Amino acid sequence: MKSPCRLEAGHDTRAFDCGDELLNSFLKKSAWPNQVSKSTFTYVLIEENRVIAYYSLAVGSVIHEEVLAPVSKSGLGKKDITVLRISRLAVDRTKQGQQIGSHMLKDALSRACAIAQNTGIRCVVVDAKNEAAEKFYRQYNFEPWPIDGFCLYLLMKDVRTSLSYTEAN
Ligand SMILES: CC(C)(COP(=O)(O)OP(=O)(O)OC[C@H]1O[C@@H](n2cnc3c(N)ncnc32)[C@H](O)[C@@H]1OP(=O)(O)O)[C@@H](O)C(=O)NCCC(=O)NCCS
Repeated sequence: MKSPCRLEAGHDTRAFDCGDELLNSFLKKSAWPNQVSKSTFTYVLIEENRVIAYYSLAVGSVIHEEVLAPVSKSGLGKKDITVLRISRLAVDRTKQGQQIGSHMLKDALSRACAIAQNTGIRCVVVDAKNEAAEKFYRQYNFEPWPIDGFCLYLLMKDVRTSLSYTEAN
C-alpha cells in the first residue's frame, strides 16, 4: 500500500465520502485553509490524484487536572501536558474494510514518534466521533480519556513499543 503524503492544493477531494458529513466537509472545505495557516496538517492517501483516506494532526495540550495518573505521572508538576491529537481519520466508503484505516493510523503514529524526537509529547489523543470509531481505536490499545466519552489516548512509550520504534528510526 502507498504511503500517505501531505495534502496538496491540487489533490481532488470532491468525491470523498466516508459516511460522516462533518468529516467529509472538513476535508473538502477546511483541511487546506487549516494547513495553510499551519494549525492542522492533513495527510492523505491518493489514488489517481483522488483522496481516498485522510487524517489530520495537531499538537495540543491538556491541563494537568484533567488527565489520568498514567498520563500526568509524578514529576511533571502542574504544567499543561503536551499531546499530539489525531483530530480526524476517515476512509472513503468504497475503500473501507481493506485495512486502509489501520494503515493510516500506523502512519499517524509513526509521524508522532518522529515529532516526539524533537519536542516533548506525552501521548497521542484521538477524537473518536462515535462508538464504532471508538471500537476501531480500542483495537490498537487506545484507552478512554476520563472526561470525554469519545476521546481516547495512547502513551508515547506504548506507541513506540507497538511500532517497534527506536530513536535510530
Ligand atoms: C473507522 C474507519 C477509519 C476504519 O477504516 P477501515 O479502512 O474501514 O478499517 P480497516 O479495514 O483498516 O480495519 C482495521 C480493523 O478495524 C476493524 N474495524 C474497522 N472499522 C470498525 C468499526 N467501525 N468498528 C469496529 N471495528 C472496526 C476491522 O474489522 C479491522 O479489524 P481486523 O484487522 O481484525 O480485521 C472507517 O470505517 C471510516 O472512515 N469510518 C467513518 C469515519 C469515522 O468514523 N472515523 C473515525 C473517527 S474520526
